[in-house]
Amino acid sequence: MSYYKIDNLEQYFKHYNKSVREPRKFWGKIAQENFTWYQQWDKVVEFDMIEADIKWFTEAKVNIVKNCIDRHLAKRGEKTAIIFEPNDPSEQSLHITYNELHEKVCKMANILRDQGIKKGDRVCIYLPMIPELAIATLACARIGAIHSVVFAGFSASAVASRINDSECKMVITSDGGYRGNKTIDLKSIVDEALDKCTCVENVLVVKRINSEIYMKEGRDQWLQPLLDAASDNNVAEIMDAEDPLFILYTSGSTGKPKGMVHTTAGYMVYTAYTFKNVFSYEENDIFWCTADIGWITGHSYILYGPLLNGATTVIFEGVPSYPDFSRFWEIIEKHKVTQFYTAPTAIRALAKENIEYVQKHPLSSLKVIGSVGEPINEEAWHWYNDHVGGKRCPLVDTWWQTETGGILISPLAFVTPTKPTYASLPLPGIQAVLMDEKRNEIEANQTIGSLCIKFPWPGIARTIWGDHQRYKDTYFSTFPGKYFTGDGALRDEVGYYRITGRVDDVVIVSGHNLGTAPIEDSINEHPAVAESAIVGFPHDIKGNALYGFVTLKETGEYRVRENLIKEINQLISDHIGPIAKLDKIQFVSSLPKTRSGKIMRRILRKIAEGDFDSFGDTSTLINPEIIDEIKDNKV
Ligand code: WTA
Repeated sequence: MSYYKIDNLEQYFKHYNKSVREPRKFWGKIAQENFTWYQQWDKVVEFDMIEADIKWFTEAKVNIVKNCIDRHLAKRGEKTAIIFEPNDPSEQSLHITYNELHEKVCKMANILRDQGIKKGDRVCIYLPMIPELAIATLACARIGAIHSVVFAGFSASAVASRINDSECKMVITSDGGYRGNKTIDLKSIVDEALDKCTCVENVLVVKRINSEIYMKEGRDQWLQPLLDAASDNNVAEIMDAEDPLFILYTSGSTGKPKGMVHTTAGYMVYTAYTFKNVFSYEENDIFWCTADIGWITGHSYILYGPLLNGATTVIFEGVPSYPDFSRFWEIIEKHKVTQFYTAPTAIRALAKENIEYVQKHPLSSLKVIGSVGEPINEEAWHWYNDHVGGKRCPLVDTWWQTETGGILISPLAFVTPTKPTYASLPLPGIQAVLMDEKRNEIEANQTIGSLCIKFPWPGIARTIWGDHQRYKDTYFSTFPGKYFTGDGALRDEVGYYRITGRVDDVVIVSGHNLGTAPIEDSINEHPAVAESAIVGFPHDIKGNALYGFVTLKETGEYRVRENLIKEINQLISDHIGPIAKLDKIQFVSSLPKTRSGKIMRRILRKIAEGDFDSFGDTSTLINPEIIDEIKDNKV
């Protein structure tokens, strides 16, 4: 019996139980039957959940790109691997076959080696959503270089801190990118970032927008001439199962982004398995995930998951609103997309527009629709289910994280009955638990607790680049022996999970995780600012938006308020990126603080939400009178 695909609910429970009782047999069989290995593993899993030391498929040798591309060539060489849909609908879309992808990735891999990139070196990829982004990422993995893809919306200083943190030797970027009716000058952002980095030796530049750019002698090279001269004969590197595959940065509760490290074999097995089951993928399906490859969703479900299954995956360069709000629906119709995977923030934005945008495009090709990135509210769920899924496509609300590598809790299409706002059941291998404040497991229904996982799964991140202690402290020390997700959740009477939101200082704005600490750090750099506290508040489209409470230095109080707001947002934009700008800023004379000097954020959160009913216990505040002032001047 194979465990790779679950066909019905009864089988789900069987597989789930097997995965808990005999996780080694379960994952060992999946790994053995569905991938090509140079050498088998010694042990399926070894772990210490106290030390946060986790290893899967130890001693096995493998190359993930051989599994994504080469092994499909005999059967699927002429099948389309990637459909590229450009920003501008009048530009031709591209269909890249598995044979062509193989040739392109091999050439790119040879260029990387020629430029001195070796196994274990870090390469920063800062590109728009064009095929070269996929090709460069896969080329790194083919030669064992560790890719660090940085979302092309990040600012120069955010790029610089990521490059420096993992000491990247190379940057792959483009002259610029298109996004809706805008162009973005990526190369100049890289130039500015590199003023602060000494580790980068080479920069390869893709030509996308034909803009005039600065090329630094001895450092920068156009990619195309190198590709023209490159051989497509490339031998993939033989990787150990636990060799790092990539680093992907995510926000945390301090100013320094966390470089989550994913390793080769476990990530491969887990993304392939979850892709197949959650989306009920079948040969000849056309899969479209609208995320950017710069986020984990793009890594796992635009690139690795689909390609490992020999699927056709869509890469879309543009935005849902350009040239108009029917762009997503037009693409589904045009490419006969069968699985469509997007974020609640996009759904809410599109649901606000005229329904005709959706209705004028037959979406009959769709079989499954999916959601990811934040809780999907009831209204958005129904709109998506009714108008996009036509009430016939299962809506899979997939809960997971950068740290988890792949989907952990989700309905499996055509297997798990869906329930609005519930991510439903954990996938096989995922031993989820809810914990109360006293660190006891919650058995009761409808009780919110901290969502933890008590057994490792193959896709879990193994460490934070250069800082294992932080990895251990962040994820394994709150509830010793368990992986703590940072999310709150509850369970209904049949065991379905509903994710209620973050329980830490991370706010999800339009699907982007933003740690409040790094934003506060950037605001505090303003010469007029004494102190600041950022909280999230509900927003119709973005899900959450940011509200900043700011105290000024005495000198600062004489400045013009509007200018200050602009300058503060500019600082945030420069340090992090425009996505982290504040929707509201309120200047206050002081922040509510406890005797030990901690800002009492839960009060600020309530005020920002407009909930003035009860502020709970405020007895530990040294300045309780400040609450009225802040409340009365809420913006
Ligand atoms: C949130 C994205 C509710 C959650 C894959 C998590 C969700 C964080 C869902 C990770 C969902 C993601 N329902 N909340 N279906 N999916 N989240 O690292 O708070 O960008 O911890 O990974 O997004 O965001 P990240």
